[in-house]
This record gives sequence, C-alpha cells and structure tokens, in this order.
Amino acid sequence: MSGAPVNIAILFSGHGSNLQALSHHIARDDVPARLVMAISNRPAARGIDFCADANIPCEIIDHTGFESRDAFDAKLDETLRAAGIDLICCAGFMRLLTEDFVNNWRDRLINIHPSLLPKYKGLDTHTRALEAGDREHGCTVHYMRPEMDDGPIIVQKTVPVLPDDTPDTLAARVLEQEHIAYPEALDTVLIKMAGT
Ligand code: GAR
Repeated sequence: MSGAPVNIAILFSGHGSNLQALSHHIARDDVPARLVMAISNRPAARGIDFCADANIPCEIIDHTGFESRDAFDAKLDETLRAAGIDLICCAGFMRLLTEDFVNNWRDRLINIHPSLLPKYKGLDTHTRALEAGDREHGCTVHYMRPEMDDGPIIVQKTVPVLPDDTPDTLAARVLEQEHIAYPEALDTVLIKMAGT
C-alpha cells in the first residue's frame, strides 16, 4: 500500500452527514486518501445532492432492482473493483451485506454505528439507550464482520444522556460525535494500511 493514496468509496442510504464529514476530511492535503466515489442504494437519498454539489462521482445502485441480496452485492462488488477501491466506508448505509461480500473485503470495510457497541446492535439505538436508563451513549466506528454491527472497534465516542432527552435530541448529540469519530477512525485505518 506504500506511497499511493488509498482509494475510498463511501456507501450511504440517506441524509449523508457522515459522508460529508468524511469527504471534507479526505480532501485535506495531509490525508493520504482519495474519495473516488460514493454509492447510494436509495435513489432519493439526500446525500446524492451533496455529491453533485461537491463533484463527487455518485452511483445509485437501487437494491429494489435486484432479485436477491447476492445479486445486489455482486453488482456492488463489481462496481467497487472496477473503480480500484481499496477501502469502503459505510456511512449510514442501511443495508445488510452478505457474508461473502464482507469476507471478501475483510479489513477494508468499515462502518459507523450510533451506539457504544457491543450495546444496541441494529435499529432504534437512541430509544433503547433511553429506555434502559443509560447515563452514557455514543457511537462506534468498527471493522465489519459478517455478523451485523460486529467487528474490531476502531474509535468510540461517548455523550452524556440528559434527563430531558428524547430520541431526537440524543441522536443529534451522538451525530455531532460521529462527525468527529469517523475522520479520526479513518486516520487510524490509513496508518494501518500504510504499514501493510
Ligand atoms: C448515522 O447516525 C449512522 O450512525 C447511522 O445512520 C445515521 C446516518 O446519518 N447508521 C446506522 O444506523 C447503521 N447501522 P447520515 O446519513 O447523516 O450520515
């Protein structure tokens, strides 16, 4: 991996605020990476507009047009390989990836999740943290493994849970930390890749 910038793809499904945070970070001169493309599995994802404004090549691979998870993941894999991608960052990509796909990209596939893993894998993490009476909540960036929201942790950030929090206020506080955590985790991964 020595010398050449790491070619990155960001996968997303929605608003794309983590996509924005990552793309701003990757654009820095001192980050040895290049954002080659973004991919959305949802044609109406708001992040697509950001890509257009920021001149980031964005492909829409609509999962509803595929007859199986395997077929969708095969198209994803083909697209990423054709673009020479070295590292995939899932940023609000709300789609489970098949075991084969995850294993084929082992240690070159990372994800951000809005909880302090291993707590609250899956959906509705903020509601679950509130219902459990947790006093701390947060986010995790991790290497992906075939089991959902599993894999070695790269960075975690915590936030306090406040007495009058709703799922929305808590989500907003966590999201602020996500935008710090993901660039930090990316730096760690890039250093590791440079050494391999
Ligand atoms: C983020 O909170 C991210 O952690 C979460 O979706 C949101 C996407 O926001 N991801 C997951 O829940 C994945 N399991 P964004 O589109 O503004 O980056």
